[in-house]
Amino acid sequence: MAIDSSPSLVYGLLLLLLSAFFALSQSLYDTGDPPLTLDYYAKTCPNVLQVVRKEMECAVLSDPRNAAFAVRLHFHDCFVQGCDGSILLDDTITLQGEKKASTNIHSLKGFRMMDRIKNSLESECPGIVSCADILTIAARDAVILVGGPYWEVPLGRKDSTTASYELANQNIPSANEGLLSIISKFLYQGLSVTDMVALSGAHTIGMARCKNFRERIYGDFEATLDANNPISKMYIEKLRSICPPIGKDAEKNITGMDNVTPEVFDNSYFQMLMRGEGVLNSDQELYSSLLGMETRALVKKYAVDPLAFFQQFSDSMVKLGNITNSDSFLSGEVRKNCRFINT
Ligand code: HEM
Ligand SMILES: *[C@@H]1O[C@H](CO)[C@@H](O)[C@H](O)[C@H]1NC(C)=O
Ligand SMILES: *[C@@H]1O[C@H](CO)[C@@H](O)[C@H](O)[C@H]1NC(C)=O
Repeated sequence: MAIDSSPSLVYGLLLLLLSAFFALSQSLYDTGDPPLTLDYYAKTCPNVLQVVRKEMECAVLSDPRNAAFAVRLHFHDCFVQGCDGSILLDDTITLQGEKKASTNIHSLKGFRMMDRIKNSLESECPGIVSCADILTIAARDAVILVGGPYWEVPLGRKDSTTASYELANQNIPSANEGLLSIISKFLYQGLSVTDMVALSGAHTIGMARCKNFRERIYGDFEATLDANNPISKMYIEKLRSICPPIGKDAEKNITGMDNVTPEVFDNSYFQMLMRGEGVLNSDQELYSSLLGMETRALVKKYAVDPLAFFQQFSDSMVKLGNITNSDSFLSGEVRKNCRFINT
């Protein structure tokens, strides 16, 4: 008991401090941005949702991983200058984009899928629908198309005329980062610990590269596993064969982050974490970190209650999509091509 209570106390205090700090900075940043609305395009582009859905259906049917790409693109967009389509900008002579930032390079995909959606919308209603809104709708559709929850998507974002390579490196968490650091990155965006755990459930779909789980499978993976479970033993052998301890070639090798149903949006990710089988260090820490009293309780809850997970995931995705960029509300635009600012 004594051993248990001291980290939890330290953790509680830390969180309290972090929360207070971010609540304060949040209120300082609070500006009178026009709110997003559900019927933003009702008059100007009434078919926007159908057009995006149709494109996403084709994309996910041809490769279910496209669903994962769409969800992750939206996340990486919103964590840098707010949800403003900055992630989609290509590098040019005058603009350094975010695509080459450390968490994005050789990793983020789905850009051509977004181009296709944008092209369809430009034929349907030219110059109306922002790339930032496209990302938001596409992420929602992606989740439904692989079996996840439905939620309504507030719209009305503008596209940025800038991107930030530096903020992409700073704000987006990485696989081997500690729990508290990741929590603070979410708090900084106005997202709670609960939002962080629920949104991490997006790893129920998609793949990770060896580069991002090598340290984990040759590190504490065995310590978090149930040593008596032969299936868990086989699992780590499989991961190690995909990802040998050394070698640059193998860094590109990939595996599903949810080893049970990698193409289905369900709560099996949380069940995996309870078996100690999280592929990324950042995933497993939600359940296994000594500082993770709160996150561990949430993992357990979502592992047994898929509806609670779906509900929270939907709410948290709306909050994620609500991270605004005051600059783009003022000086933003609706890009004609998501890769370049309008001239
Ligand atoms: C909590 C902190 C998070 C960390 C540290 C993290 C880290 C990662 C890493 C390292 C990968 C594998 C990339 C690669 O190997 O190329 C990945 C993939 C992915 N992430 Fe996260 N992530 C986090 C949160 C999120 C959130 C909030 C979402 C969306 C709501 C998300 C959606 C995805 C998806 C869908 C993939 C699979 C992409 C694919 O198949 O290529 N992640 N993440
Ligand atoms: C990549 O993974 C496969 C198994 O999926 C394995 O046979 C191969 O050796 C790995 N590549 C490298 C370079 O280790
Ligand atoms: C979205 O942000 C606005 C302020 O920009 C706020 O009034 C509203 O409550 C937020 N909605 C959600 C669901 O977080």
